[in-house]
Amino acid sequence: MGALTVGVLISGRGSNLQALIDAAATPGYPARLAVVISNVPSAAGLARAAKAGIATVVVDHKKFQMREAFEAEVNRALDDAGVELVCLAGFMRLLSDSFVRHWRDRLINIHPSLLPAFRGLHVHEQALAAGVRISGCTVHYVREGVDDGPILAQAAVPVAPTDTPETLAARVLVQEHRIYPLAVRLIAEGRVRIVEEKVMIEEEDGSAVPLFNTATL
Ligand code: GRF
Repeated sequence: MGALTVGVLISGRGSNLQALIDAAATPGYPARLAVVISNVPSAAGLARAAKAGIATVVVDHKKFQMREAFEAEVNRALDDAGVELVCLAGFMRLLSDSFVRHWRDRLINIHPSLLPAFRGLHVHEQALAAGVRISGCTVHYVREGVDDGPILAQAAVPVAPTDTPETLAARVLVQEHRIYPLAVRLIAEGRVRIVEEKVMIEEEDGSAVPLFNTATL
């Protein structure tokens, strides 16, 4: 079986993209990054992709009046590259229901909280305002709702009393870089099943576990 062909959608820094690039460069990794698409022409992640020899495409959302036209262009770039799995990695545009439906079960996202807590923006501010003692990150399949969908992998980190959004973000980000490549690996190995909107991971002995436990506490 060949490597799974992956497309990554970014809007900015691209540190999760880098984690995927680094993973894909390790021998035997079952996925290959075929294209990186950014809706922001100045996104730093584009240079990371170029440096790794990955095709880059800019689809500047500001040049499109309609979301449908923007997404059609994104889809064209994904299809041209033969993408089988789309990874959102700090992609800051809301995707239409029709885009999400088109890529159903082939579209995943990383979010810097333990979903379903703290959806949307300013996630670490939300976590600190709520006074949680534990936060973390989630890789999930994308459904029509914002930051909603079957959970593939999560990792937890402690929240320190002295944390600021920045220090908490940095602690969570370390775990994001672990679990995103792990989640892509599990999908690429064909071990992921979605059963009644819950993710099951097939073990080598053929049994299935409800959730890949990547807890770090
Ligand atoms: C990450 O915290 C990710 O969870 C969120 O946006 C941030 C993107 O960071 N969706 P980067 O561009 O991958 O460095």
